[in-house]
Order: sequence, then C-alpha cells, then structure tokens
Amino acid sequence: TQIEPRTTEIVEAHSALEGPLLPILLGIQEEFGYVPSEALPIIAEKLNLSRAEVHGVATFYHDFRKHPAGRHVLKLCQAEACQSMGSDQVAAMVKSALGIGFHETAADGSVTLEPVYCLGLCACAPAAMLDGAVIGRLDADMVDEIAAEVRS
Ligand code: FES
Repeated sequence: TQIEPRTTEIVEAHSALEGPLLPILLGIQEEFGYVPSEALPIIAEKLNLSRAEVHGVATFYHDFRKHPAGRHVLKLCQAEACQSMGSDQVAAMVKSALGIGFHETAADGSVTLEPVYCLGLCACAPAAMLDGAVIGRLDADMVDEIAAEVRS
C-alpha cells in the first residue's frame, strides 16, 4: 500500500518540529482522509514514542478518523450557541434521516456524520457544514434536503 512510504515521508517532513505528533497526524489525515492504524507503529518508531502513546493521542482527538470518510462529510455544530437554538433536536433528526450516529459512516459510503464545536456561525444557529460549505438555521426541511443530497 501507499500508507507506509507516505507515512514515513510525512513523519520526516515534520520531525524537526517541537511536538511533531499532532501535525503528523493531521498531515496523515489530510493525505488519506483518515488515520490508518498501520500508520501508528511507523510514527511511534520514528518519533521514539510507545505505540500506546501514539494510539492514545490519535484516539483522544475526535477529529482524527479511524476509518475512511464517506463521499460526503456532514459536520453538525454542537457548541453552546447552537445548543441553545436546538442543535440536539437537529442532530436527532439528522441521525434518524441518515441512519447513523456521530463518528459513523453510512453503510453505502455516502456520508460521514461528525460533531463540530463552533463554526463561527453562531448568529445563524443551529449551524452545520457539508463538504466544507457552511449551512445556517437548520430546520427539518433542510435536514430532509441534506439527506436527499448526500444520498444522490
Ligand atoms: Fe455553533 Fe458557533 S456555536 S456555530
């Protein structure tokens, strides 16, 4: 696979940094769309860390995916301003419309659902981001539209 040589390159590109582990994990996720488990021992060895340490950091931060993402990535804001505008209800509608929970990908590979903590769109809460584009004032109709879009 490409994972080993690319992981080695990414580690080497960052190894001069102070605290290189997070930038390396971010670089790997950018490259592959997730952090493959095969990458972890390579990182550990190169940085002289234990595998447990690397694994701990990779799983502590929910932004790092363990599996490849779906074709679409939908992020729902779960931070305070959105919470106060009903983001919990929106999340419940989205989960039932898509049949998945947070940090899950639909079985057909169409969409991955992730929580996010403030998109800077608090004035238009509850907010979301679909494939990098922000969406404000989510309501039931928009949830239906989004569900139809990601499935098409
Ligand atoms: Fe949701 Fe700021 S709290 S966009």
